[in-house]
Amino acid sequence: MSNVDFRADGAAAIEWAARYLERVGDLPVLAQVKPGELSAKLPASAPEQPESFGDVLRDLDELILPALTNWQHPRFFAYFAVTGSEPGILAELLAATMNQVAILWRASPASTELELRTVDWVRQLLGLPDGWHGHIEDTASTSTLAALIAARHVTGRNVVVCSEHAHSSVEKDARMLGMELRKVPAGADLGMRLDGLDLSDAAAVVATVGTTSFASVDPVRELAERAHAAGAWLHVDAAYAGSSWICEEERWSQDGVELADSLVLNPHKWLLVPMDCSLLWTSRPEEFREAFSLTPEYLRSDDAAYALADYGPALGRRFRSLKLWAVLRCYGAEGLRAIVREHVRLADLFAGWVESDPDWELCAPQRFSLVVFRHNGSDAENEAIVERANASGEIFLSHTKLDGRYVLRLAIGNAGTGEADVRRAWEVLNREAAR
Ligand SMILES: Cc1ncc(COP(=O)(O)O)c(C=O)c1O
Repeated sequence: MSNVDFRADGAAAIEWAARYLERVGDLPVLAQVKPGELSAKLPASAPEQPESFGDVLRDLDELILPALTNWQHPRFFAYFAVTGSEPGILAELLAATMNQVAILWRASPASTELELRTVDWVRQLLGLPDGWHGHIEDTASTSTLAALIAARHVTGRNVVVCSEHAHSSVEKDARMLGMELRKVPAGADLGMRLDGLDLSDAAAVVATVGTTSFASVDPVRELAERAHAAGAWLHVDAAYAGSSWICEEERWSQDGVELADSLVLNPHKWLLVPMDCSLLWTSRPEEFREAFSLTPEYLRSDDAAYALADYGPALGRRFRSLKLWAVLRCYGAEGLRAIVREHVRLADLFAGWVESDPDWELCAPQRFSLVVFRHNGSDAENEAIVERANASGEIFLSHTKLDGRYVLRLAIGNAGTGEADVRRAWEVLNREAAR
């Protein structure tokens, strides 16, 4: 028996969570610890005798909290900022409580059917085509891996084509599969260039809507048409920006997406669902099943007609749809739209400040909720600005390189981020630039 009073300790854990969310904005955004600092404080081996859950909560405050980089902080602007919203958090608790292992329909009718329904709700909200089959993977890395496996299975080819700005997961997936990766240069708008594109031996083309570095958009329609003419599979990576399609005005970036063979989108990035929740749709579910379906004797049953494990690498599947369901219901499409819209507005506002200040430069076309910019001066000076700003604990930004130059990225994606937070980021950056 564990040493837990489930009701009392559960109430204390919820209280801890509530207090954390209330005060996270007062904590440093970036963890203010050195590598190994936490490890040095953790016992080298597990306890022989049971401890109390109170001990765990105490150590959460004393050991773990100082070593957190606070992704729930409203001034987290690095990578792609995210939100683990309250309904999603509560649903995670309940999912762990029920601990469904959805290896086939019978093993969890609820998880299987709720997953299909909620993923289809999202498809409708984003204006994606009727009839697409969708399921949930852990991450976009896995979703793209699955898509490449399906593409290789269908085409019998071994080459993956993507833009030089595609996410590193495409390269890693190709490497894990022993597939050859061909990176195509991007044009002035940072989208993949089409001139000289040879897809004759391509298994898959990966088109990105909302690249990680610049939120740029590849010409999906042209890529889909060329891929299909060459007998290749078209996978769309809309892991970040696809969520913006919940707002009609962002659907300009959806042009051609209806031609995709598969598409990945992460509600754990910009739809308020706690990590992890990656949606993978395909217009070719039969080919996915051919690539992935494998039913050993011990899993055979009369009602095993439907198993979501037939569409991806994992057999055991978490009840991830519960948090997606809770978020969709407790915010409603209107609530989600309002948050995405506000993030885009805040990014535009910040980009406007950058553009109108001669000391700063906007470095990429403004898209979605990401601003790419730099201060006048050398790479080293820009790097020092980011490092000082991050070390202050007031904000957390990340960087990338564009044409070999160091550029800063301000990504807005936390539901708690308001205009005051964005203004504070601008003030901190200007303060550090003036040093
Ligand atoms: C465009 C894009 N694709 C894929 C990924 C990989 O996502 P994941 O961490 O879910 O594997 C990211 C991560 O930021 C991304 O921005």
